[in-house]
Amino acid sequence: MSLSELKLPDYREQAPPVAARFQRIRQRPVILSVQNLRKAFGANGSTQVVFDHVSLEIHRREFICVVGPSGCGKSTLIRIVAGLDEASGGEILLDGKAVAGPGPDRGMVFQGYTLFPWLTVKRNVMFGLKMQGKADSTAEAEAREWLEMVGLSKFENLYPHELSGGMKQRVAIARALANNPRILIMDEPFAALDAQTRCQMQAYLLQIWKKVDATILFITHDLDEAAYLADRIVVMGSNPGRVVEFIENPVPRPRTSDQFISPEFLALKKRLEEHIHPRIEAVEKLPMIKLTDAGDEVE
Ligand SMILES: Nc1ncnc2c1ncn2[C@@H]1O[C@H](COP(=O)(O)OP(=O)(O)OP(=O)(O)O)[C@@H](O)[C@H]1O
Ligand SMILES: [Mg+2]
Repeated sequence: MSLSELKLPDYREQAPPVAARFQRIRQRPVILSVQNLRKAFGANGSTQVVFDHVSLEIHRREFICVVGPSGCGKSTLIRIVAGLDEASGGEILLDGKAVAGPGPDRGMVFQGYTLFPWLTVKRNVMFGLKMQGKADSTAEAEAREWLEMVGLSKFENLYPHELSGGMKQRVAIARALANNPRILIMDEPFAALDAQTRCQMQAYLLQIWKKVDATILFITHDLDEAAYLADRIVVMGSNPGRVVEFIENPVPRPRTSDQFISPEFLALKKRLEEHIHPRIEAVEKLPMIKLTDAGDEVE
């Protein structure tokens, strides 16, 4: 089959197990509803609209990835969902209730390592539990369960600076999930990791997601990562930021690395590439300043 023959079917036309999975997801309650969201920065006169008319609904235990060009407002969107920033218009409902400020019902994992450096691994995971007023012994027992879930039981007494990048992010995931959030919000959590650790972390995350009642909103620049992880992929465009397309991922679960060369995976990547990759005409409009006369032209 040639690349041009790769077509991304509507989910209803996909293999029966995939179509059935999407039907099951659609029957689950909506956890997060974003309606007509708008965000603009700046005072009157110099207003910069980051995005407008952004609407999406995420069902319980759905795994959503958001991709889009740098600056289209992905981080701003999830900062608003997290309650760390305010929208300029529109509405966000979590479990039917309007979001106003941060809360333990939303867990966050960012690209930068955000563990408390002065606390051990176990104390980092206990932190939110203690904030909820749980007794030391209860918080400790629960933290240990979460550390076992992310495979870090042996490291509970180490400090963050004694861990690798991947281990730090596993602690961050354990810490976020320990609060039992309704939704786990992740902003390029694996972007700083080397390729191999990143692949391991993606597989870990799918394993963890299978075991917990968590809905995941995950931002990434990596199209393979989105195709490997997501149920649905939200493609954003820029100037101003907006949702361009919702794509139902046709790759069956459970996911494996063998699927990276399957026709469904390649069809999905092709569609994503069409959105993300700049049109050659747009690139050719850039001013060209030539700093070589070596004569041997590069293509
Ligand atoms: N506090 C702020 N004040 C003014 N402008 C801001 C602020 N935060 C973000 N912006 C602007 O909003 C736009 C979107 O930024 P955002 O960080 O959400 O993009 P992004 O899609 O996450 O990009 P990237 O893929 O590079 O992480 C950018 O143009 C940025 O300059
Ligand atoms: Mg960002």
